[in-house]
Amino acid sequence: MISTYARLAERLSAAFSAVSEGADPVLRISEHGDYQANGVMALAKSLGRSPREVAAEVISHLDLADLASVEVAGPGFLNLTLTPGFLGAQLRAMALDERLGVALDSARRVLIDYSAPNVAKEMHVGHLRSTVIGDALARMHRYVGHEVIARNHVGDWGTPFGMLIEHLIDLGEESAVTSLSIGDLDSFYKAARHKFDTDEVFADRARSRVVALQGGDAETRRLWRILVDESVVYFSQVYDLLDVSLTPGDVAGESSYNHLLAGVVDDLTATGLLVESDGALCVFPEGFTNRDGEALPLIVKKSDEGFGYAATDLAALRQRVDELEVDEMLYVVGAPQAQHLEMVFAVARLAGWLPERVHCEHVAFGSVLGTDRKMLRTRAGVSVKLVGLLDEAIERASEALIERHVALDDESRDELSLQIARAAIKWADLSTERQRDYVFDLDRMVSFEGETGPYLQYAHARQRSILRRAGETWSIEAAPFVLAEDAERDLALGLLALPEAVAGALETSHPHRLCTYLFDLAQRFTAFYEACPVLAAPGASRDERLALCELSARTLATGLSLLGIAAPERM
Ligand code: ARG
Repeated sequence: MISTYARLAERLSAAFSAVSEGADPVLRISEHGDYQANGVMALAKSLGRSPREVAAEVISHLDLADLASVEVAGPGFLNLTLTPGFLGAQLRAMALDERLGVALDSARRVLIDYSAPNVAKEMHVGHLRSTVIGDALARMHRYVGHEVIARNHVGDWGTPFGMLIEHLIDLGEESAVTSLSIGDLDSFYKAARHKFDTDEVFADRARSRVVALQGGDAETRRLWRILVDESVVYFSQVYDLLDVSLTPGDVAGESSYNHLLAGVVDDLTATGLLVESDGALCVFPEGFTNRDGEALPLIVKKSDEGFGYAATDLAALRQRVDELEVDEMLYVVGAPQAQHLEMVFAVARLAGWLPERVHCEHVAFGSVLGTDRKMLRTRAGVSVKLVGLLDEAIERASEALIERHVALDDESRDELSLQIARAAIKWADLSTERQRDYVFDLDRMVSFEGETGPYLQYAHARQRSILRRAGETWSIEAAPFVLAEDAERDLALGLLALPEAVAGALETSHPHRLCTYLFDLAQRFTAFYEACPVLAAPGASRDERLALCELSARTLATGLSLLGIAAPERM
């Protein structure tokens, strides 16, 4: 089916273009009429004519089929009201469409670089954001038919591994593995760090261990593998707990690009881009300066001969373009790394590694704050453990279910609490514009009221409960879809707008657009349910309203699933 919006937008564009080539209106769902088109003003200005006159001319070119009325409002808005017949036909098509009207896009290969925690280090809330946002984007891209390559750019290389391996040796492999597998990664890391800072002999051992690791010493490599493998097992447990679609097969750690790093340096040297600065090999891409206006370097190889984070990112980018043949790359990484990534992209372009046709974007996000609006930390000042947050959310959700007297056996309650906790955490993260910081307030997040994940899940469960009560006593075929009540019409318009919500979220890599849509839809449903009796409605009206309930439930469940949030049948 062609979406309602697409159909209108196409006709409007044609009418605007007939007045002036290339003029394009902006269309949105509106309280005035069903849709409102904006753009007459700009067009009138560019033509030096009055908005009224231009509006009339646009309307004279507009294909009026399916439109009950077109009115000019204010300074150049067009209010479009659709015929009930057309809306009804669209709803019927949507009901018969498994994809709820969301069209499949042309096949594209989209690489999403997300999560990327560091080996032998606890995943922190920054990694939580990357994981949750990246996974939502992956789900949305897959839904519209794109081939998604998830890349977990795990930090598994670099100088800290000298001290980490030596610490592992000190502990003995077996107990080291135990302390890693129970997820006490931070203590492991800190203990290693402490020895490195306070014990000269240990520090020396760590330094020679780095050399051995880089030199490919077999025993050192074996010990390093233990750290990496144990960490990946731990990360996978966190992903399972969060219901995130990443698998160990998506891990392509920094170390996996080691064999490409020398080539990066050679090829950058050949292009003449690489210069020596303070003993390091750097590229100075144009347009990047520090506060004093001095050109900033992207350091590719440090003076101590080691390759840096940037060299690895350059190698990874090249491989993604050349070998994986991606059409699009999304880097879901915190805002503080914006400059690093921009410089990597700029250098890759200069070197000819990033062709115009590949869309490459830093999907940046802000920090997670505590309720005191400071960076989220525990009372002791250390960064908060992600698993601890989830556990706490599960506990709160379970309490809320008990408080609400939801009759469940223990096992079902545990499962439901987990689903609610995931929804609470993911929704809080996804529903604010990602560049902004958000406050991690468990009480609010887990609440069944307000703009929360559990509220959306509850709205869906309520719809399902109405449908359960109705049983088999109705059919979509019998629904006339006359949309006699305003609240029915408003709900219908909301339902029909799913395709644009998904498209908008994908175009901008802003999952919050889908959240805004879903919350609005839930509110439209509430208004409908308050105004229109469903089960007690007479005759065909009952079929129509039940059909609207069913479409609402399917739309909410689909939307939530694209965010990685489950829609339980009962709550
Ligand atoms: N491991 C890094 C960190 O914890 C994030 C890596 C992001 N991805 C990338 N391609 N640089 O900060």
